[in-house]
Amino acid sequence: MSLLIKNGRIVTATDDYKGDVFIQGETITAVGTNLGQQADRIIDALGLLVMPGGIDPHVHLDMPFMGTFSSDTHETGTRAALFGGTTTVIDFVLQRQGHSLKEALTEWQGRATGTAVGDYSFHMAVTDYNDNTQKEIRQMVEEEGITSFKTFMAYKGALMIDDRQMTALMQEVRLHGGLVTVHATNGDMIDYLIAKHRAEGKLSPLYHYLSQPEVTEAEASGRFTDISNYTGCPGYIVHMTCEGALNAVRNATRRNQKVFVETCIQYLLLDANLYERDFEGAKWVMSPPLRQKKDRETLWAGINQGLVNVVATDHCPFMWKQKLMGEKDFSKIPNGHPAIENRMELLYSEGVHKGRISLNKYVEVACTNPAKIFGMFPRKGTIAPGSDADILIFDPNAKHSLSASTHHMNVDYSAYEGWELTGKVHTVVLRGKIAIEKDECLVEKGYGQFIRRGKTGNFI
Ligand code: URP
Ligand code: ZN
Ligand code: ZN
Repeated sequence: MSLLIKNGRIVTATDDYKGDVFIQGETITAVGTNLGQQADRIIDALGLLVMPGGIDPHVHLDMPFMGTFSSDTHETGTRAALFGGTTTVIDFVLQRQGHSLKEALTEWQGRATGTAVGDYSFHMAVTDYNDNTQKEIRQMVEEEGITSFKTFMAYKGALMIDDRQMTALMQEVRLHGGLVTVHATNGDMIDYLIAKHRAEGKLSPLYHYLSQPEVTEAEASGRFTDISNYTGCPGYIVHMTCEGALNAVRNATRRNQKVFVETCIQYLLLDANLYERDFEGAKWVMSPPLRQKKDRETLWAGINQGLVNVVATDHCPFMWKQKLMGEKDFSKIPNGHPAIENRMELLYSEGVHKGRISLNKYVEVACTNPAKIFGMFPRKGTIAPGSDADILIFDPNAKHSLSASTHHMNVDYSAYEGWELTGKVHTVVLRGKIAIEKDECLVEKGYGQFIRRGKTGNFI
């Protein structure tokens, strides 16, 4: 099967020109102007943007968490991602404390293999670093193509590791050319504040927010950055929300250090005042919590300063019934919110259309940097001969609104209900196949492939 996309405005992280893309099988084989190749199918992209498929490197699909499972499976989550212009996601395998990394990987493979609709890869979350785990790091990198290791500085007793484990893990990962990513918050401070609020009978979603003040994230981001500097292991801070945390990374640049930073779409757009809506605030209970206007401004500026490298989602949806588990106690509300389908359109509308970031920057933070940082470039994340034909054809002028009644995520509310957007996904191509066209998904469950990733350097 061959496909020719003609007359589009081709945008990558660095280029912006009118041209054609020719695809043979799963691969882009030519990019240029007035390409004359015969094709089985021609798409006229006049007036449309032709960009690399989005890559969301932070999603939790079918994940056991806080006594329940996130409500999108690998099937529903990757399909919803495709509807939103995201062709590849990176999901998290969680080691169970007392068990091996391999056991966890086998469990996650059981859920994802043959069910994913879009492409996916795995980060390995190390929650119990010991002599046995140490031996498995090389195996993950060399044999499984899993080159990034997630750590949690919070959720004590379930996921958190201490600084001794963090230091040893980073030394080992560095030896094998991997990367350590982190949920950077001071777990002990948070646990103290949660217990204090509960003892005082302060049980509404607002106290989820007040139990995780900015300092908890700023302190841990600085500590992680220091350990990364000491060990020489490349580091990546996930879901950064605030000025204090970004300043910890900014300070580290003064000693010539590079730490990768990811923020998520919600931290650029939403405000902590949503927690004042009584229990409805549970829709946005996530960790870290939403913050203030000054933090959003810092994050937008950080993108343009090259300090914030990636915009992801931390997609971790729960049905309203699941959120109600915490109706009487905020600490029992499953943490997370749905956005896998909304990221590309929200970032375009609020970022590019409103003039906060350039179109090249949009592609950089939503497609190219995730591919580079996580060892998938240039197979993914760009439009070039030899790359996978993962393409987002986007109508920059189409107006539409977001709603749970029209989205494809398996969750019964939208965190962005009624938001009016400019810019809409038109057509999505995944490895040469038209995956989304006329608001319909044309690829089947099982089309999504596991993407083995390469080693990562401390540069992008
Ligand atoms: O609230 C969140 N972020 N839920 C998912 C787990 C995590 O910490 O990323
Ligand atoms: Zn997290
Ligand atoms: Zn997460």
